[in-house]
Amino acid sequence: MNKACENLKLSIEPERRWIAVVGSPRKGGNTELLVDYLIEELKVKNIRTDKFILNSRNISACTGCEQCIKTGTCIIKDDVSCLIDEMKDADGLILASPSYNYNVTAQMKSFLDRTFCLNDYNSGCKSRLSPGKKAVVAGVCRGKNSESMGFTIESMSRTLCELGIDVVSVLEYYDTKNSPVADNDCIREQVAKTVKAVTL
Ligand SMILES: Cc1cc2nc3c(=O)[nH]c(=O)nc-3n(C[C@H](O)[C@H](O)[C@H](O)COP(=O)(O)O)c2cc1C
Repeated sequence: MNKACENLKLSIEPERRWIAVVGSPRKGGNTELLVDYLIEELKVKNIRTDKFILNSRNISACTGCEQCIKTGTCIIKDDVSCLIDEMKDADGLILASPSYNYNVTAQMKSFLDRTFCLNDYNSGCKSRLSPGKKAVVAGVCRGKNSESMGFTIESMSRTLCELGIDVVSVLEYYDTKNSPVADNDCIREQVAKTVKAVTL
């Protein structure tokens, strides 16, 4: 292939697009800042990321009607419909939540429950998402160890695995009271390592 063709191939390669879903209700808090760093690092890898703050959206909790098992669509019409469409289109996802009582926040839990419509249980368990999507999962907590974080990471990771999304990296951030993300000089390096797995 001559140089001109190589350049053409490069220029028509589709741009990769991710979405970032933030579960913290505190705007500009540790979780959102960590996500901003992840987004910046993804940008270095030529990946554009759109950020969704769950607390700023209208998101109802799942009512358990299970209509979506047959139809693949949730009967509740709120901002989750658009987020589900975004998930279908995206090449990858960041899910980030602080730990609230050893688990994700209520906002993140509502969102995770509402992704149930993306599972196809009609013949075993298949994902209604196209294959090949990747994810980075981030947990943030005040405590100093994984015990304090409880099920935060697992809750998000397991839901994504069920949907056939490959969780390529996990970022756990502890001790936010004594070492807030904003004051941490080493975190950028850790974020870069986390994102590296995305492009391997
Ligand atoms: C209702 C509530 C429950 C919490 N539960 C936990 C917990 O189980 N473990 C923990 O280490 N920190 C817990 N925290 C502390 C938060 O995880 C911590 O402050 C975190 O930095 C908040 O993230 P943010 O700065 O993005 O809002 C809790 C905070 C609140 C408000």
